[in-house]
Amino acid sequence: MIRLIDYARPFAALIDPEEAHRLAINALKVLPSLALGHDDPILGLSVFGLELSNPIGLAAGFDKNAEVADAVLRLGFGFTEVGTLTPKPQAGNPRPRLFRLPVSEGIINRLGFNNEGFAAAVDRLAERAYRGGIVGVNVGANRDSRDRAADYVAGIETFAQLASYFVVNVSSPNTPGLRDLQAASALDDLLARVIEARDRAAERAGRKALLLKISPDLSLAELDELVAVVRRRGADGLIVSNTTVTRPAMLRDAAAREQGGLSGRPLFSLSTWMLAETFRRVGHEIPLVGVGGVDSAEAAWTKILAGASLVQLYTGMIFHGFGLVGRIKAGLAERLRRSGYISVADAIGAEARAIAAEPWPT
Ligand SMILES: Cc1cc2nc3c(=O)[nH]c(=O)nc-3n(C[C@H](O)[C@H](O)[C@H](O)COP(=O)(O)O)c2cc1C
Repeated sequence: MIRLIDYARPFAALIDPEEAHRLAINALKVLPSLALGHDDPILGLSVFGLELSNPIGLAAGFDKNAEVADAVLRLGFGFTEVGTLTPKPQAGNPRPRLFRLPVSEGIINRLGFNNEGFAAAVDRLAERAYRGGIVGVNVGANRDSRDRAADYVAGIETFAQLASYFVVNVSSPNTPGLRDLQAASALDDLLARVIEARDRAAERAGRKALLLKISPDLSLAELDELVAVVRRRGADGLIVSNTTVTRPAMLRDAAAREQGGLSGRPLFSLSTWMLAETFRRVGHEIPLVGVGGVDSAEAAWTKILAGASLVQLYTGMIFHGFGLVGRIKAGLAERLRRSGYISVADAIGAEARAIAAEPWPT
């Protein structure tokens, strides 16, 4: 079945990207329960209080409404992240708002948090909760919200029993003003409120890790300030990174002119460099999730060497199919053994200094 969906990819490339996404979700809904083999034990690790059989996860934005979490886990991902979810359902920006960049294997999106809202996702997550598996919940704020921090707090309270971990997404470029929440004083207030909500919920639902997802477009001075707030308030991890509003000089695709966040291969250098810079500031104290342009075992390996404890991907799967995760896992296990490491944990950040020393990607 995975192969069949892989074969459908060239046809998907011919249709509207949002239609192709809908088809992929529907295909996953009917994916039979495959008896997947166990992951190679060398890929196992423990982070954020979670035991993972492998470090490769599906990034937020593919399964915005928590429709296919189990199917995604059956594809071989070690974890999945649903959302971004906002309290109220919202339609997002007008179409067209999703663009393929086939030459550079990138995507530009300006979806604007189109999602069915908390209630629909709660029902779906509750219905599958008995199956287990690691399912993070990524929360955001409605576009018209008067108190954005209150929207995030509501997300923590609503999903406390259902999330394996939380992500506070303050880095989507498609909700005006959202990324301002990364600035020190706004972030301080936001983190104080969401962490208080998380701690309150811990009494009835157990303590869940709270991660902050950041933009690759921060300056290093902004990153310094952000890290200081994260340390002070005690967030458990950082996801580096969301999409970029910058456009690397190498882009040749016509759609590169579209406004929105760029993901995929053209984001790899910038997001990996930001990851290494972040690792240099937090070391092993605050675990990092590396995301941006992962489309091969080599790319995932580089994220780990740059400082990622876990790796996520989205756009790579659009261009390389559902079989990508299996290929990445096999290549990662091989690289760990070849390099003489006995586990993923040993390799984290091993080359962060060298990667951060490379010139700022343009
Ligand atoms: C179509 C699309 C929708 C996305 N939606 C979200 C979202 O709702 N929330 C979020 O935190 N990130 C979202 N992202 C960002 C991804 O989670 C990821 O951070 C980014 O795409 C870089 O990874 P990639 O190059 O592997 O795609 C979206 C990305 C794409 C391509």
